[in-house]
Amino acid sequence: MNDDFSVWRDRPVVVTGGAGFIGSNLARRLAELGAQVTVIDRMLAGYGANMFNLALPANPISLLESDIGAENAISDAVTGAHTIFNFAGQTSHMDSMQQPLEDMALNQIANLRFIELVRRVNPGARLVFSSTRQFYGPPQYLPVDEKHPLNPPDINGIHKLAAEQYHMLYARVYGMRVTALRLTNVYGPRMRIRDAKQTFLGIWVRHVIENSAFEVWGGTQRRDFSYVEDLVEAALRTAMADATIGHVYNIGGHPSLTLDELAELLVQVGGSGSFIRKEFPAERKKIDIGDYYCDDSAFRAAANWQPRFDMAEGLRRTLAYYRANKHFYL
Ligand SMILES: NC(=O)c1ccc[n+]([C@@H]2O[C@H](COP(=O)([O-])OP(=O)(O)OC[C@H]3O[C@@H](n4cnc5c(N)ncnc54)[C@H](O)[C@@H]3O)[C@@H](O)[C@H]2O)c1
Repeated sequence: MNDDFSVWRDRPVVVTGGAGFIGSNLARRLAELGAQVTVIDRMLAGYGANMFNLALPANPISLLESDIGAENAISDAVTGAHTIFNFAGQTSHMDSMQQPLEDMALNQIANLRFIELVRRVNPGARLVFSSTRQFYGPPQYLPVDEKHPLNPPDINGIHKLAAEQYHMLYARVYGMRVTALRLTNVYGPRMRIRDAKQTFLGIWVRHVIENSAFEVWGGTQRRDFSYVEDLVEAALRTAMADATIGHVYNIGGHPSLTLDELAELLVQVGGSGSFIRKEFPAERKKIDIGDYYCDDSAFRAAANWQPRFDMAEGLRRTLAYYRANKHFYL
């Protein structure tokens, strides 16, 4: 098990989706560790892409503004990479239902083009793919482990599942060094807070820093959450642990809590804002998965990972970030 983060020094690394929430946190951490980071991002309007996410005093991160499916534009960057974190994606479940073909282009076809390019130009690269817990659908048992049946509740889930399966197929058939991580609700600095498109926690955080009231839909649903700094460490440890190659893992983080409990904790930690309970909107209820929390013990053992932050600390850090930088996100 390799715990030595100095391996990243001078390493050429590609982070797709690196102008977005999770990818930018990962790109920044890699740059801090001395890696040569290239971000590939098409800067999709209306989602998490934000130039401020990559602002650093002396910026060592190169940004290649391109779709991950545009092979001519990205081939050189992919060819030279030691490690590739493929974290690009369209994340809105509602948008995927309203514009299913756009979601297919962004989340499925672009990923097939991407993995096919990696196979042709750099088949030995270490590749980590950001998958999702969404396609388990409404849990049949809790906690959800990786053997749980798959039942995507929306178009986004179908396309993310296809993208994950392309990656794992290429691992099996071509021996590529791929790991897929099924993420749950991730939150923290650099997420979208203008609205609830990326995560409902984004708009909740906005209301708390603006000292206004946010809505909690339902409230009794139980969920688990990952703080983004913990998730970044999980992604790095994945790439550093050869034992994870060829596997798909759940990643959770904090112990689960109900949305009511989370709303109370957020208001308490923030010392501002308030919330009101509302009925779940009908069009969202149809694609909601109800209670979810995962069993991520397989990942913890294979990658020697555990979260370092509890939920209160993660929320405190998130609120401090947006209190200082909110004008870049509204
Ligand atoms: N945030 C979460 O809670 C969560 C949960 C489960 C899975 N995920 C997955 O993690 C990944 C990152 O999510 P995020 O929350 O950081 O989202 P985000 O919207 O903040 O970032 C995604 C980035 O990908 C870019 N992008 C989208 N499609 C692209 C394409 N075809 N080519 C190039 N760039 C493209 C966007 O411009 C954006 O900057 C996504 O794949 C998402 O499905 C996120």
